[in-house]
Amino acid sequence: MDPLIILSQTHKKIAETPLMYQKIMTSINFTDMVEYVKDLDELSREIVLPHFDYEEKEIFPDLLFKGFPDLNKLIEELKEEHKQMNEKLDRIKEMSKKLRDDPAATQKDKEKLSALCTEITRELVEHGQKEDEKLFPLLK
Ligand SMILES: [Fe+2]
Ligand SMILES: [Fe+2]
Repeated sequence: MDPLIILSQTHKKIAETPLMYQKIMTSINFTDMVEYVKDLDELSREIVLPHFDYEEKEIFPDLLFKGFPDLNKLIEELKEEHKQMNEKLDRIKEMSKKLRDDPAATQKDKEKLSALCTEITRELVEHGQKEDEKLFPLLK
C-alpha cells in the first residue's frame, strides 16, 4: 500500500485511541487500571513509537534529501514533538502503575493522570494534522 495512505490511516488510529482511553479514565477503578496500563503500553509500543521511528528514519530524510526549502525547521519541530510525546507517554505509564500499585494513590493522582491523557490526545491529534497538512503533500 502507498506509504502516504498508511501514514494517514495511522494518524487517524493514533488520534482515536487515546480518546477512548480518556473515556475509560473517567469511569475507572483501580482493578481496571491493570488492563488500562497494558493497553496503553501496547498502543505506544505497537503503533505510536514505530510510527515516529518510521517518520524519522524514512520520511524526514527522504524529504530533506529532496531539498525542499525551509523544511529543516519544520522537521526539527516535529522531531522535538515526537520526543516530548514519548516522554509524556512514559510518564502516563509510570503514573498508571503508581495508581495501580500504590495504596496511597489518591483521587488527585487519578485526576493528574486523566489530565495527562487529555493533553497527549490533543498533542497527538495536532501533530498528525500538522504532518498531514504541511509535510505529506510534499511526498506526492
Ligand atoms: Fe510525527
Ligand atoms: Fe505522523
